[in-house]
Amino acid sequence: MNERVYIFDTTLRDGEQVPGCQLDTVEKIEIAKALEALGVDVLEAGFPISSPGDFRSVVEISKAIREPIICGLTRAVEKDIDAAADALQYAKRKRIHTGIGSSDLHIYTKLKSTRDKVLEQGVAAVKYAKKRVEDVQFYAEDAGRANLEYLCTLLEAVIEAGATVVNIPDTTGYNLPWVFGEKIKYIIEQVPNIHKVTVAIHCHNDLGLATSNTIAGLVNGARQAEVTMNGVGERAGNTSLEETVMILYSHKQHLSLETNIRTEKLCHTSDLVSQLMKMPVQANKAIVGRNAFAHSSGIHQDGFLKNRENYEVIDPLVVGAQPASIVLTARSGKHALLYRLEKLGYTFEKTEMIPIYEKFLEIADKKKKIDDQDLLEIIREVTESLSK
Ligand code: KIV
Ligand code: ZN
Repeated sequence: MNERVYIFDTTLRDGEQVPGCQLDTVEKIEIAKALEALGVDVLEAGFPISSPGDFRSVVEISKAIREPIICGLTRAVEKDIDAAADALQYAKRKRIHTGIGSSDLHIYTKLKSTRDKVLEQGVAAVKYAKKRVEDVQFYAEDAGRANLEYLCTLLEAVIEAGATVVNIPDTTGYNLPWVFGEKIKYIIEQVPNIHKVTVAIHCHNDLGLATSNTIAGLVNGARQAEVTMNGVGERAGNTSLEETVMILYSHKQHLSLETNIRTEKLCHTSDLVSQLMKMPVQANKAIVGRNAFAHSSGIHQDGFLKNRENYEVIDPLVVGAQPASIVLTARSGKHALLYRLEKLGYTFEKTEMIPIYEKFLEIADKKKKIDDQDLLEIIREVTESLSK
């Protein structure tokens, strides 16, 4: 029996912090509806104290969305918590996400505080938030670089204060996957009241390890993954939703973990987020990039045409992508060319294919990509010269 992993989407909060990606309320509601249709469990709608616009967006998303839990971010400060609780008042299911820095670096150089005071402030924030909503998630910012003993003491105290979810962020994307996984395992083994809460992980991508760290956290017992569509987010971004979901999907047998995501909506949601945030998706991006299911080298095309699984671990239809495409370039082989000609309604004998392929290579060396129009021109030229 597979265990459930909860998908906490923070595209509209951590993702939207990116310069140039800001969205207005109408755009945020459109994305929120797409995320609801996609099947996310928790939707972090914003940071209500940060601006009147963000406050309004959280209010409107709370009214428009019925299925996922709507979450608002706060610092461990009463006025933030009040703003979040007010903004969430219309939400059918609501959660406050409060927290504070937990590494010595954050405690001493950012907060100019001490470990004891930070623990007190975190506990007070959870208790205060509990007066306004039942569901309170606590984040231990920069947990990835925190002293583990202290982190465990802090987590035990906030759980005792009523937290329902504890979030262990690798805020700076510093950890190695196996080290991060061991930390999650240690926390789950050492914090005595951890079984009362859901353990969440929230990884950033500064070293390109966000998805690996998220999977390591889940394998070691975390059950909520904090992610964004297309991996958008501060600096190098957050863990990508589509990668996390498709890794769990593809390795279901081995990991026995599953999400509630309707995978066939992934590409559509990715396009929508990319367009509204004006943030193009790189062509070779896993799962949703325009080349994710395009085959262009001769060896790959030949293998793919014999059996799709030779070069594809995911069926493009499962993620709502166009069926795999055979891209004709100077690296393509005869098999791929024949396939595309057949699609255009042409069949040729082996001997006829020799001059067609030679002409194709000549043009392909000049042009980066050969399209159907080019193929028709090649056929015309070759058949004309053969008939002379
Ligand atoms: O990266 C981080 O630590 C965060 C927290 C606010 C959860 O975004
Ligand atoms: Zn973050």
